[in-house]
Amino acid sequence: MAGAPLLLLLAAVCLACFAPGANAAGRKMVGVYELSKGDFSAKVTNWGATVTSVVFPDSKGNLGDVVLGYDTIGEYVNGSSYFGALVGRVANRVAKARFVLDGKVYHLYANDGKNALHGGHRGFSKVIWTVKEYVSGGDSPHITLYYHSFDGEQGFPGALDVYVTYELSSPYVLSVRMNATALDKATPVNLAQHTYWNLGGEGSGDVLGNTFYTGNFLQDVKGKGGSVYGQYGALCLETQGFPDAVNHPEFPSQIVRPGQAAYKHDMVFKFSF
Ligand SMILES: *[C@@H]1O[C@H](CO)[C@@H](O)[C@H](O)[C@H]1NC(C)=O
Ligand SMILES: *[C@@H]1O[C@H](CO)[C@@H](O)[C@H](O)[C@H]1NC(C)=O
Repeated sequence: MAGAPLLLLLAAVCLACFAPGANAAGRKMVGVYELSKGDFSAKVTNWGATVTSVVFPDSKGNLGDVVLGYDTIGEYVNGSSYFGALVGRVANRVAKARFVLDGKVYHLYANDGKNALHGGHRGFSKVIWTVKEYVSGGDSPHITLYYHSFDGEQGFPGALDVYVTYELSSPYVLSVRMNATALDKATPVNLAQHTYWNLGGEGSGDVLGNTFYTGNFLQDVKGKGGSVYGQYGALCLETQGFPDAVNHPEFPSQIVRPGQAAYKHDMVFKFSF
């Protein structure tokens, strides 16, 4: 049967895709990278530049994970909740999946009825990022992930280089630094870190800086360790620009142009009990 070996081959390829660790022969591999600083730790996967866990102690010293997510990378690949992911090229909605920039009409991939949502069908949360730098421990454990978005990806104009760095520092601070550089054409850029913070425990988190607060729209999503996440079980604190800004000249511009200042967006999460 010709079918059997093919099936085996596909299974082997998929296992390789999700195997943690090394980059064989320059291929992009999906792995899970731990950052740890004493009793404070986080896990990040280069699938969607996603934060899969953030663990720190409660007042009794018990460690707890405050991030909603899944047990396996496969579920992140399948999932539609954007758990922990880096969302782009344009987070949120672009109405009618179209916009006009410098007199030219661009049509995006419509994945939310007639609109484009969170970068389209295969936005930055659904691609493999390259690990540029990884320091797992020490004073400031951090990981820098890079993604090259090509001209026309999901309908967006121009190539774009995107970086995100996740870094732990004391006391229980997670910082997220994002930047994006337009290489050849002007393009809208609006990146968002889409972590849902679990409200179930005793913990609390503060986001320092320019904060934009959104409720969440989870509907009984199956997550880590068999838990089911219902509506209002978590909080997603996204700092980002206005929805559909590219079609609203009165909103602050999200246009990034080649040869001009890069897009920059920093967030700082401070955890405490
Ligand atoms: C992904 O979705 C497919 C189709 O619904 C399902 O068969 C598969 O088990 C899912 N994989 C994971 C890892 O959840
Ligand atoms: C973007 O971040 C990367 C990684 O930290 C850095 O090397 C690069 O210089 C930054 N680019 C800009 C334009 O700030």
